[in-house]
Amino acid sequence: MLNINPVSTKNWMYLNEHFSYMKDVKMFDLFLHNKFRFKELSFIFKDQIIFDYSKNIITLHTINLFVNLLKEINFSNYLKFMLLGGKINVTENRSVLHVALRDRNNFFFNEGNNFSKIKEDVENNLKKMELFTNSILKGELTGFSGKKILNIVNIGIGGSDLGSRMVINALSDYKNYLNIYFISNIDVSDLKNVLNKVNIENTLFIVCSKTFTTLETISNAKIVRDFVINFYDRNESSISNHFVAVTNNLREAKKFGINVNNIFFMFDWVGGRFSLCSSVGLSICLSIGFDNFLQLLDGFHDMDVHFFSCDLSKNIPVIFSIISIWYNNFFKFDVESILVYKNNLSYIPLYLQQLLMESNGKNVDRNGNYIKDYFTSSVLLGGVGTDVQHSFFQFLHQGTKCIPCDFIAEICSDNNIDNSHFKLMSNFFAQTHSLAFGDIKLKKHFSKGKYNFLNKFKVFKGNKPSNTILVKKITPYTLGSIISLYEHKIFTQGIILNIFSFDQWGVELGKNISSLIFQNLLHKKNSNLDKSTDGLVNYFNTKFK
Ligand code: F6P
Repeated sequence: MLNINPVSTKNWMYLNEHFSYMKDVKMFDLFLHNKFRFKELSFIFKDQIIFDYSKNIITLHTINLFVNLLKEINFSNYLKFMLLGGKINVTENRSVLHVALRDRNNFFFNEGNNFSKIKEDVENNLKKMELFTNSILKGELTGFSGKKILNIVNIGIGGSDLGSRMVINALSDYKNYLNIYFISNIDVSDLKNVLNKVNIENTLFIVCSKTFTTLETISNAKIVRDFVINFYDRNESSISNHFVAVTNNLREAKKFGINVNNIFFMFDWVGGRFSLCSSVGLSICLSIGFDNFLQLLDGFHDMDVHFFSCDLSKNIPVIFSIISIWYNNFFKFDVESILVYKNNLSYIPLYLQQLLMESNGKNVDRNGNYIKDYFTSSVLLGGVGTDVQHSFFQFLHQGTKCIPCDFIAEICSDNNIDNSHFKLMSNFFAQTHSLAFGDIKLKKHFSKGKYNFLNKFKVFKGNKPSNTILVKKITPYTLGSIISLYEHKIFTQGIILNIFSFDQWGVELGKNISSLIFQNLLHKKNSNLDKSTDGLVNYFNTKFK
């Protein structure tokens, strides 16, 4: 593999030269001089989703220069190596094969490349999820007292929580009668809120943790286990009916008391934040049924196929990654935003925060050098439109920083009561337009010198970039395709930026120090860390009642 500092490449130098011209270019002029711009810089995926990236400060030449950069760093070899099971998660010595989870037609993995064991594992796992889901939905698997399961509670955090939470919320229209709840936070109020709502007799808990050692998850799961056993007069056999595990750590799950038949395996070669197509998606499967879960996988898969086979200059995940690097590293726009114009998509920004920032928030390159001369991940900000129009959009339009945005919405909605969907969508279109072009009328006024003090505050300068993802309808299939797009976007960025996107060492120090401080709080002792933290721990110890 080539592990090249991107800044040292020939094409980065050409991009720098290109930038010195592009930095002053206005999108208004780009559209004025190219009447085919929308057609050239947009892509229709499977007649279901249009990706419009024409409202960016880029030209086809920008894309071509990045494509040349990708060739210079041997991008396609990296992809091949990944698909061959190469251990591209170097610092954890792991392959990265989440693509195999949704390869139901053996497009990537077949006998030829010796993946029969992986294929078999994936198929068996899916079969187990199908049988389990159907048994719960048919009422064959019941609670300890024989009552039908009506509530599912997923106990997990990060990648073992956010993906399922996001998908289940996004696909609310596909939900069956099961109530799905999530417990993630170590703050017990999260757990209490859920336990107050459910009857234990009708409730199944999924302890979802790849490692089965994550403090929040195991601590919460133990509290719930005790609660369940107490409910059944300390009868430990009840665990079998009310708990399943999703994990890579069979030993710890068994030790916890979970029946081995109730353990869904999580493969070592799937990273937590890339795992929603694995058995981590069990709560999704239960919520929308197995057939819809397969549709979700197929949506992921079709975008995988697009990513691995489409020409780079028309490859949507590649283009999205190029655009992001272009802004973060050349324009120095270091924040990007995801704006979803459908309430049920509200968890997408949170989910993508982990996907992007845990993957690419790195400061050491693949050669082990500290990165000094370029930027890795941007910061991700997001929310639901139109709500956020009434909070941070002021900043987007008139702040001194420029924040490129991705706008996501659906065309066909069941919610057009009193034209509400049209009202929503007119806001959606209005925002991308006004960010890009500002207030053209006022600007004309300005240029004729007809302005006064107050007008200055009212001017929208525009030239704020955005991508638009307009989906015919949010279905399991289209949602899968969109999430897969972001997975590959982030992966591509990681390759270009010469970092390892699949580890997360940055979360370890906080975990270690918190376990030291935990002892100090238990025993009311000083923490001996630094004067500020010692002072705060002391204050806590004296005041805690
Ligand atoms: O601490 C970060 C992290 O390791 C994430 O990468 C992961 O998604 C989350 O914790 C949960 O981990 P686990 O599934 O092992 O409980």
